Amino acid sequence: MKFTVLSLFPDILRGFFEASIMKRAVAGGLIEYSLVNIRDYATDKHRKCDDEVFGGGAGMLMKPEPLDAALAAAGSPGVRTVFVTPSGRLFNQAMARELAAQENLVILCGRYEGIDQRVIDTRVTDEISIGDYVLSSGEVAAMVLVDAIYRLRPGVISGESLEEESFSKGLLEYPQYTRPANYASMRVPEVLVSGNHAQIARWRLKASIAKTLAYRPELLSTDGLPGKAGELLREVIDEGGWYEPGTGYTGGTDQE
Ligand code: ADE
Repeated sequence: MKFTVLSLFPDILRGFFEASIMKRAVAGGLIEYSLVNIRDYATDKHRKCDDEVFGGGAGMLMKPEPLDAALAAAGSPGVRTVFVTPSGRLFNQAMARELAAQENLVILCGRYEGIDQRVIDTRVTDEISIGDYVLSSGEVAAMVLVDAIYRLRPGVISGESLEEESFSKGLLEYPQYTRPANYASMRVPEVLVSGNHAQIARWRLKASIAKTLAYRPELLSTDGLPGKAGELLREVIDEGGWYEPGTGYTGGTDQE
């Protein structure tokens, strides 16, 4: 999969593509990337990329000509082109999965007050926001998108890791522990050291449900959860076994 990121400050993104898991994915040929400086497509003497907003108002807008030329060189129209903006649709794991199915993805980062609407109308296929807050520019949002997407590509990280993580089953991930089993007088829940895999799976699902109910209740469907998960949701509610921030999941240590 190839990411082409267009920005006025492409150096902000360079370190991200040159470190850690991404570095390995690029070296292994799983991911390609191109960082494009929009200013390289400005043709006037001062390589101007911004201008005042028609109708008045504070701040500057990115001009259409350099953006148009940069996007055309990146293959637009005809390639999935995301503009990251707080006025877009809210990004989530389902969108990450859908975008991870593309072989080419262009991401456009805005600066200043945004970009000329005519560029959005003619070249942008998706306007995406990473959350209900305003960043000073799109580069960090672009990195968030790329990170959420590339790790879903085959071979980048293990399929097992992806299956268990938050949102994979519509729930937040359960709490996890490593050695030592007794740390600063806090014991790992007994069931996790029992070796009983059915009980461990039950505890994990119940803890996922309890945590989701405490932090993100809107993720739980109004129809409840199917089958076993629905039973566990009722148990969590009956026990008042809320996930307690700071103490982990305290309920559900029953060994039936
Ligand atoms: N640019 C500035 N704020 C943003 C946000 N919340 N999401 C995406 N792009 C942005």
